[in-house]
Amino acid sequence: MAGIYIHIPFCKQRCTYCDFYTEVAPQFIPSLIDSMVKELYIRKDYLQNAPINTIYFGGGTPSILSKEQFSIIFKAVYNLYTVADDAEITFEANPDDLTLEFLESLRSLPFNRMSIGIQSFDDKDLKRINRRHTSKQAIEAVKNAQQAGFSNISIDLIYGLPFQTPEAWEKQLDSALSLNIQHISAYGLTYEEGTALWKQRENGEIETVDDQNMNKMYLQLLDKVQEKGFEAYEISNFALQGYRSRHNSSYWKQEPYLGVGPSAHSYDLTSRQWNISSITDYIKAINSDAAFFEREVLTLNDRYNDFVMVSLRTADGLDMKTLRKEFGPELAAYCLKNIKTFIDSEQVYYFEDKLRLTPEGIQISNLILIQLMKV
Ligand SMILES: C[S@@+](CC[C@H](N)C(=O)[O-])C[C@H]1O[C@@H](n2cnc3c(N)ncnc32)[C@H](O)[C@@H]1O
Ligand code: SF4
Repeated sequence: MAGIYIHIPFCKQRCTYCDFYTEVAPQFIPSLIDSMVKELYIRKDYLQNAPINTIYFGGGTPSILSKEQFSIIFKAVYNLYTVADDAEITFEANPDDLTLEFLESLRSLPFNRMSIGIQSFDDKDLKRINRRHTSKQAIEAVKNAQQAGFSNISIDLIYGLPFQTPEAWEKQLDSALSLNIQHISAYGLTYEEGTALWKQRENGEIETVDDQNMNKMYLQLLDKVQEKGFEAYEISNFALQGYRSRHNSSYWKQEPYLGVGPSAHSYDLTSRQWNISSITDYIKAINSDAAFFEREVLTLNDRYNDFVMVSLRTADGLDMKTLRKEFGPELAAYCLKNIKTFIDSEQVYYFEDKLRLTPEGIQISNLILIQLMKV
């Protein structure tokens, strides 16, 4: 089982909080697509012919591409790789791109899942973080997608935005849950160095949300989504039954994936590699057969750290049996020794040889994970 991630590093404008590698440079779209098709060819053996179970177009803003541009990429993927008949095929979209006409044009492509970045249903929030859509457009985008026949829709939300109160967040959740969607990703806002939001905080221009209210908002989130039948299958991801993101779940299960495009990461069970974070340098390197990525072979400790970090964030938890089998008794003992205080304080459950965070543990997940890392 394997996945393909395709990074579309373009945005029409930059949101203040975001530090993903993207540029406002639509003039490069056609030549970048040519180079990504070439990368798909150059790396066709990377996954060793494993069937492709998930394809994910992430961004940046994949919905900036036209149907024809998506078709060029799909043609290369289907010619060069063995895509499973029931593969999950997702694209990320920004609401203002999702006209009914555009969405209907995409129905002839193999997409069967869509992830719409909404972030907030409050126009004041949206303006402050420099989103290019309104709340009304976000709601219309979801309705258009449903009308065009998409029946597996996820939305992204951010809580803890500047000036946000728990009462305001509750309203966001009500708006989201009234949309008849199947999946929600909700992230606590992080302040990333170098972003416009980081500077606004340094200049004292915004009111930040304190830890106590961040925790309160997370508990509100859990309550609200669970009441509507969503399962919290990972700290930030919530799905109705049968609608977990298979692509993200494969990252958490340590399955191999190929990442194509500038800044995309790949993993083949023994090493990680990451492509150059520059559209022009990437195109130049691909076209001159030069190196377009860096690579790191993972040590046993690196692989143990990755396993612990991702599995403990999921509802399925960290399976000690797998840990012992994959990483040996010493690392298993190290993990149990370091997590013991959190088990004793009921921030972690240890049941049927699996470790799982309790709601209290989720609120201090970073602290717990740091204790378990092996350097
Ligand atoms: C890189 S974006 C791509 C999605 C799409 N371009 C959009 O903006 O809707 C993926 C998601 O990461 C989340 N995200 C990005 N930066 C974040 C930050 N600093 N704090 C919390 N969430 C963030 C947002 O929810 C966003 O939708
Ligand atoms: S959040 Fe999405 S639209 Fe905004 S800058 Fe990041 S990738 Fe671009």
